[in-house]
Formats: sequence, structure tokens, C-alpha cells
Amino acid sequence: MQQIRVAINKKYAAVAASATGYFKYMVGKEGALQLGYSKELLDQIPESLLNSFCGVGNPLNIETIPGGSCILDIGCGAGFDLFAASRLTGATGRVFGVDLTPEMVARARANLTALQANTCEVLEISSESLPFSDQTFDVVLSNGVINLSPDKPNLFAEIRRVLKPGGRLQFADIILDKELPPHLAAGVESWSQ
Ligand SMILES: C[S@@+](CC[C@H](N)C(=O)[O-])C[C@H]1O[C@@H](n2cnc3c(N)ncnc32)[C@H](O)[C@@H]1O
Repeated sequence: MQQIRVAINKKYAAVAASATGYFKYMVGKEGALQLGYSKELLDQIPESLLNSFCGVGNPLNIETIPGGSCILDIGCGAGFDLFAASRLTGATGRVFGVDLTPEMVARARANLTALQANTCEVLEISSESLPFSDQTFDVVLSNGVINLSPDKPNLFAEIRRVLKPGGRLQFADIILDKELPPHLAAGVESWSQ
């Protein structure tokens, strides 16, 4: 498990500067447009943040996020969905992000400060061990992260624990539709392709 975390840290430390060249799918502004994020939203976000976006879907589109909601984004990366969520939750909402890569956390904090997204807060921590009380959040978001967890049962248990009764998980991720060949399955890098 530790080996997987080290490989993930290494990859996403580089992605914090720019996602270009690290993924087999479209990333950055082009990727976000393709996934259905609005041009109006993207026009508010500086290149420095858009460049690190490596989400695989649009979890905010799955269900309406009401104003005033308390939101958690697990594996928030450089803060793209945090900013997008803060536009929906408004001044009375709270938006928390967690990420285990220090470079991503530093990038997210700088991005959100520059955007004056004052209802957002980012913590450097693994999603499998959340520092929040039971029943804190209305919605947990995740964009391309659950797949990276080497401890999914614990991750889902933590998500369930911190959700309020009636709260929900809105996530996007990649799934395998056939077995990986053994030489790929054995490689720790395959976790974060
Ligand atoms: C594919 S990127 C997606 C980032 C962001 N959600 C986005 O849409 O741009 C995955 C992110 O999850 C973080 N991550 C991976 N495993 C994690 C874990 N177990 N706990 C917290 N963060 C994790 C990585 O550091 C990276 O920033």
C-alpha cells in the first residue's frame, strides 16, 4: 500500500504543475469542456488552475448542489471542482478538499486564494482517514480518485461516516472493462494511469 502511495505522490507532484502529457484522456481546459463544464465557469478560472485539471467526469452535474451545502471533495487536486462547487454553494456554504499530494495541496490553496474562494479549505491528508466528525457533509464529491485508493472498503466507510443522513456521494471515475495483462497489473504505476 505504501508503494502505491509513493507512486501516486510522485506522479501528482508533477501533475500539480501541469497535467499535459501524463494521461491517456483529455485534461486541462479542453478536457473540462469535453466533460460538460460550462464555458462561463471556465472563463473565470485562470490557466494555472485549468492546466492541472485531470478529472474524468463532471460530478457536479449528477445532481443539483443546493446553496448553503457543506461539501467535501476527496482527492481535490489543484482545486478545480472546489471552486466550481463554491459557486453553487454560495456565501453560506462550506467546501472542503482533501488530497494526499503536498504539491497539489499547495497549488489548490494558492489557486483558491487567488480566486478569493473564501468558503473553501484544503487539507493535506489521505481520503481513507478523514479528520471530520460523523454526519458533516451534504455531498461528497470525487473526480478520478476512488480508483486510485488501495483501500477502497475503508474509503467508502469514511465517506459514509462523514455524510449526513440523506447526504450523497457524487463521483466520476474510470473502471476496467477487462482484466489487465499480468505485466501491467504487476506494475505499481498502473494504479495511476
Ligand atoms: C486524477 S487526479 C484528480 C484531481 C482532481 N479531482 C481533478 O479533477 O483535477 C487524482 C488526485 O487524487 C489525489 N489522491 C490520490 N489518492 C488519494 C487518496 N487516497 N487520498 C487523497 N487524495 C488522493 C492525487 O494526489 C491527485 O491530486
